[in-house]
Amino acid sequence: MTALLGEGVSTPLRISPESFRAFCRFITTELGIKMSEAKIPLLQSRLQRRLRILQLDSIDAYREYLFESPGGEAERVNFIDAVTTNKTDFFREPQHFEFLDQEALPSLEPRPVGDLPAPWLLKLWCAGCSTGEEPYTLAMVLSEFGQRRGRFDFSILGTDISTRVLAHAETAIYDEERIDPVPPLLRGRYLLQSKDPEKAQVRIVPALRSRVRFHRLNFMDPEYPVRDVFDVIFFRNVMIYFDKPTQEAVINKLCRNLRPGGYLFVGHSESLSGLRIPVEQVATAVYRRLG
Ligand SMILES: C[S@@+](CC[C@H](N)C(=O)[O-])C[C@H]1O[C@@H](n2cnc3c(N)ncnc32)[C@H](O)[C@@H]1O
Repeated sequence: MTALLGEGVSTPLRISPESFRAFCRFITTELGIKMSEAKIPLLQSRLQRRLRILQLDSIDAYREYLFESPGGEAERVNFIDAVTTNKTDFFREPQHFEFLDQEALPSLEPRPVGDLPAPWLLKLWCAGCSTGEEPYTLAMVLSEFGQRRGRFDFSILGTDISTRVLAHAETAIYDEERIDPVPPLLRGRYLLQSKDPEKAQVRIVPALRSRVRFHRLNFMDPEYPVRDVFDVIFFRNVMIYFDKPTQEAVINKLCRNLRPGGYLFVGHSESLSGLRIPVEQVATAVYRRLG
């Protein structure tokens, strides 16, 4: 399967230029992700597991299986799982959660009814949610906000193209080493230790899990099958892999489901400058829907 360099040392099977071109075409058309030759080693190493499982002995054979065999259609889900980059963390880019709590939510708050705060159901979409750390972070922040305010509830939609990350997100189970960024107070409130002392794992509490739902969605689809109109959309560290026309098209589609005045958060290394989109910038990597 792997080409042996010497005893115990192996290197992944090589990818031919023809296969690389075919994979690039598929990845760019299906996922919007641009690929350069710098990605060859990454692609080679990520496909080894698929080759092993399918008992194929070359990447060219895998290409044929993927694009020309009857089983290819189903395999494309696994190929997408293998090639997407799913890096995420709890409380990643933490300034955003502070901004949400201190600025965005107070500015969206409905007018009080007499002396009481108006009942409020906030809807949030975590677009490109990976393994769930981001939507569950949001759930912790919103739950804390709601306890201070009262008469507040929320629902979070998490979407991603990768079925593997969505399956993980649904379990809401994380290795303990992943929860370092979660403040201790919130760990105590929202994370349950595994009952099995052998397992250094935690699970998100049911009260948060019940407010977060996950669906598979491809940003390249012409229409998104999402009915809700959201108050806030998190779309962070996804479009970095898209070219400008794709970024513009995707953000315009996301904005159809963002209420006027609603907030769009993007990754700190992502720029929306030069895109024709109905938002204005209000803070670093934070935008508000116009209109
Ligand atoms: C780097 S992760 C970012 C996760 C999270 N938003 C964060 O900032 O920590 C990017 C996610 O976007 C997803 N993704 C990439 N292309 C996509 C597409 N065309 N449609 C839907 N999701 C996509 C990937 O599967 C991956 O889980």
